[in-house]
Amino acid sequence: MLAAVPSPVTVRVPAKINLHLAVGPVRPDGYHELVTVFHAVSLYDEVSVAEGEGPSIEVHGEGAAEVPTDETNLALRAVLLLAEHADRDPDVSVVLRKGIPVAGGMAGGSADAAAALVGLSSLWKLELTRDELSELAAELGSDVAFALYGGTAMGTGRGERIVPVLARHAQHWVIALHRGGLSTPEVFGELDRLRSGSDAEPRPVEPVLEAIAGGDPRQLALSLGNDLQPAAVSMAPELRRTLRAGVDAGALAGLVSGSGPTCAFLCADRDRAVDVATELAGLGVCRTVRVAHGPVPGARVVDPADPP
Ligand code: C5P
Repeated sequence: MLAAVPSPVTVRVPAKINLHLAVGPVRPDGYHELVTVFHAVSLYDEVSVAEGEGPSIEVHGEGAAEVPTDETNLALRAVLLLAEHADRDPDVSVVLRKGIPVAGGMAGGSADAAAALVGLSSLWKLELTRDELSELAAELGSDVAFALYGGTAMGTGRGERIVPVLARHAQHWVIALHRGGLSTPEVFGELDRLRSGSDAEPRPVEPVLEAIAGGDPRQLALSLGNDLQPAAVSMAPELRRTLRAGVDAGALAGLVSGSGPTCAFLCADRDRAVDVATELAGLGVCRTVRVAHGPVPGARVVDPADPP
């Protein structure tokens, strides 16, 4: 008797912003020691995995042309890693539908890798726990493990060691997308160059953790911070204008997301976020704007019965 071919599995996975990103010294392996607070926001990619011939990938959606489809693609690397782990042939076809900006500092590639791990684990009925997946995720990249968990979480090490942070309150954001991307290694390199010869005081994480627990967006606005921001602004000086414009339009605070160039603006509530987004869009300081909220859950299999 022929075995039934399992139905494709689709996983929805969110983008992240960093509410706090403290960059420490470079380690012997070339990575920087980090203390960061990740926050998953409601911009999503969808990743479908199905039985196929050999590993293959198709990419659709905004910025699809800029996503590599060779083995540098993190979702494909996730397929190969999980196949090796499960001792199976990587006969899988992957379809990515991009809603997360490409090379925007929102961990879109890492999100796709996390989604591929979750999707394939379900397709192949591997019954791996999130902690087991998290170990594989850490081999793929620094931000992949967080995309499995979502919510709000502290990341240490190179960002891959995740501890969830209790955040009962929703926060409202305007996300400003820019033309072009910034390369994460180059932004870290620019930070090293800007810092050379000076001993930076580490940015403390406690104020942002307290503000998240309290839930007041005004308090949170005062404690947001990203050590990579000066480096991203040095490489893309137009970001200074975007950051100023968002605050002038009524956001409580704005910051570069991760290594940029996407900027995230915290707003007092959803109505305010819609107003800020409308004003920013009208000013033409960025390519496009989105309204988003967080925290939202990490990579999850989409129930085919659920409406899109
Ligand atoms: O881990 P991931 O592949 O996402 O990192 C991309 C690049 O960002 C690394 O190759 C490194 O140059 C830089 N990086 C770093 N320190 C970290 C995380 C990333 O220097 N903690």
